Amino acid sequence: MIKKEEIIKLLSKVDDPELKKDLVSLKMVKDVEIKGNDIKVIITLTTPACPLKHVFTRDIEKVIRENIKDVGKIEVEFDSNVKKSKGVPGKEEIPGVKNSIAITSGKGGVGKSTVSVNLAVSLSMSGAKVGICDCDIYGPNVPMMMGVDGRPYTDGKKIIPLEKHGVKVMSIDFLVDKNAPLIWRGPMLHGIIRQFLYDVDWGELDYLILDLPPGTGDAQLTIAQSLPLMGGIVVSTPQEVSLHDVRKAIMMFKKLNVPIIGIIENMSYFECPQCGRKSYLFGKGGGEKLSKEFNTELLGKIPIYEDIRELGDIGKPPVLEEGKEISKILMEISQKIAAKISVMNYEDETTFN
Ligand SMILES: Nc1ncnc2c1ncn2[C@@H]1O[C@H](COP(=O)(O)OP(=O)(O)OP(=O)(O)O)[C@@H](O)[C@H]1O
Ligand SMILES: [Mg+2]
Repeated sequence: MIKKEEIIKLLSKVDDPELKKDLVSLKMVKDVEIKGNDIKVIITLTTPACPLKHVFTRDIEKVIRENIKDVGKIEVEFDSNVKKSKGVPGKEEIPGVKNSIAITSGKGGVGKSTVSVNLAVSLSMSGAKVGICDCDIYGPNVPMMMGVDGRPYTDGKKIIPLEKHGVKVMSIDFLVDKNAPLIWRGPMLHGIIRQFLYDVDWGELDYLILDLPPGTGDAQLTIAQSLPLMGGIVVSTPQEVSLHDVRKAIMMFKKLNVPIIGIIENMSYFECPQCGRKSYLFGKGGGEKLSKEFNTELLGKIPIYEDIRELGDIGKPPVLEEGKEISKILMEISQKIAAKISVMNYEDETTFN
């Protein structure tokens, strides 16, 4: 008869491919069920968007089959428990939010909002609890790209965010007269951004994505300085002027001790739908150059797709178009980000405890 303890012992020989430690030490084995010769292992992942489920399944099956004779069916089931970032000393936590992630670039129009929206939606599609906060007070684009409009209500204490594609959404666009110019400056801007994050009832969130405005001015400073960010993701086109501005954004984050999760190169190339030839309209190699320069990961490259703009304009994030190449590219990037966040949170914990 196969014993549960026997299986657990074997699972202690299987490593999490990213955390490089065994499943038992990492407390990832939730349960082992044995029915006759059939075995079911339930693994608790550090993110539902884990890109390596097949590796877990393969390694678990291998170790069991190699060590126990006459095993019947082996099933590996997953659930997840996203780790909370350790927080930042002196910075107030956003209630219920495990990981706040800022999307920045330094330069305008390179695709921050596009990346933010698709990242939020793809994490939610993977099963994570996700919110997106449009921190662009002067040019809020998130509502349009998410296809959501309306006025959030309040329960008297907190603002209840709107919801679309499984993601909780908050934007200044929901609160103001859309045709009146906004003239908030310095302290007021600081106040409104903080209010946005702390006075909103986000519920329980694994990931809160913050879409930052362009530049490295007041708004970015407020966010990087006063919020408990788990990390920042930097978006750039391969173009030298974009890289130049991005460097400033990275330096600002580094100076304020916000860890850089990685770089996303957007508008990397255009592939001709007729002949398949790739044109590098904004140059080539910018993302690699930046990632080397700052010793940070290049999380992925997003090509220029007409669909991205078109679907963005009608509030249908392209990652929703499952089966299409662009959806796959965006989904892969978001899984890479989720995995990287897990590793960073884990390393933080082991370094500081
Ligand atoms: N890979 C892409 N392919 C085609 N169009 C894209 C791509 N990425 C972004 N766009 C389009 O480029 C425009 C700018 O993108 P987006 O608004 O995401 O940039 P941003 O960095 O947030 O800009 P801002 O600095 O103004 O906030 C949008 O119209 C968007 O749909
Ligand atoms: Mg934007």
